[in-house]
Amino acid sequence: MTDWGSSTSLITGAGQGMGKGLTLAALAAGGDVVGWDLDQTALTDLIAAADGLPGSLRVAAVDVSDRQAVVAAAAHTGPIDILVNNAGVTGRNLLIDEDPTVIERVMGVNAMALFWTTQAFLPGMLARNRGHLVTLASAAGLVPLARGVAYTASKHAAVGFHEALRQELRQSSPAVQSTLVTPFFVNTGMFAGASTRFPWLLPTVEPDAAVAAIILAVERDRRRLIMPSIAAAAYLYQLMPTTISDFLLDQLGISAAMTGFHGRSVEPGATPARGA
Ligand SMILES: NC(=O)c1ccc[n+]([C@@H]2O[C@H](COP(=O)([O-])OP(=O)(O)OC[C@H]3O[C@@H](n4cnc5c(N)ncnc54)[C@H](O)[C@@H]3O)[C@@H](O)[C@H]2O)c1
Repeated sequence: MTDWGSSTSLITGAGQGMGKGLTLAALAAGGDVVGWDLDQTALTDLIAAADGLPGSLRVAAVDVSDRQAVVAAAAHTGPIDILVNNAGVTGRNLLIDEDPTVIERVMGVNAMALFWTTQAFLPGMLARNRGHLVTLASAAGLVPLARGVAYTASKHAAVGFHEALRQELRQSSPAVQSTLVTPFFVNTGMFAGASTRFPWLLPTVEPDAAVAAIILAVERDRRRLIMPSIAAAAYLYQLMPTTISDFLLDQLGISAAMTGFHGRSVEPGATPARGA
C-alpha cells in the first residue's frame, strides 16, 4: 500500500489538468506535494486552489525536458516518496507538416524527461527502500494515433521506459512500487476536439474520475491502470494481423480521432528558457 497522506510526492505538470487534480487530491489526503510546471501563472493558481488543504505545497517553475534544470531543481527538493511523471505535450499535424521543434519538444517532455526526473529521485528511494514511480503514458503508448506520430512515439517510449524500469526494480528493489497509467482521451482540454465514432463504447474520461482512479491505483500499488476499462483491448493490438487491427481502428474511429483536434499543442519554435 502507498499512502499519499504520509508521503512527499513530486508531480510534474502540476499546473493544470490531471497534474493539478492529483496535486490537490494528495494535499487533501494530508500529503506533502512538490508541484513542478513550466507555467508560473498556473502554479500561482494552484497555490490559491490548495489554500486550506491539510498537506503542504511547494512549487517550482521547471522545464522537465531540460536535464540540467531538473538536476538543479532536484537539488533543492529533498527526499521524494512518490514521483508522478505527468507533464505532457502534443503536436497537431501530419508528420510531413510537423515543425521539427514541435517533434523535439514532444519527445523531450513526454519521453526524455522521464529519464531525468527518475535519475534525480530514484537513488533516494533506493536508499530509503521506499518509493513509488507513476508514469502518465497514454493508450497512444499501446496503439497508434494518426496526426500524432511524435505523440505516439513518445508515449510508446514512456511505456517502454516504465516497463523496463519495473523489471530492473522487481529484481533489485521490490520495495519501490510503480504504476503505469495509460488513459484514452481525458476531458482536460489537452485533446479538445478529438473524438471517436462510438463515444458510448469508448468514452472520454472526466478529469475528476481519472484523478480518483489514479489516486486509488497508486494506493493499491496497482502496476497498470488503463481508462476507460474497455481500452484494455489496446493490449491486443500487437497480437492482431494488421488487416484486422487497421479495420478495428477505422471502425472505432480511432484512425480519424484527431481530425477535429483543437486542443493544446506545442507552438513551433517553442524553446522555454532553462529552468523558466
Ligand atoms: N488529456 C488526455 O486526453 C490524455 C490522454 C492520455 C494521456 N494523457 C497524458 O496525461 C498527462 C496529463 O495530461 P493532461 O490532459 O492533464 O494535460 P494538460 O495539458 O491539461 O496539462 C499538462 C501540464 O504539463 C505542463 N507542462 C508541459 N510541458 C512541460 C514541461 N516541459 N515541464 C513542466 N511542465 C510542463 C503544462 O504546463 C500543463 O500544466 C500527459 O502526460 C498526457 O500526455 C492525457
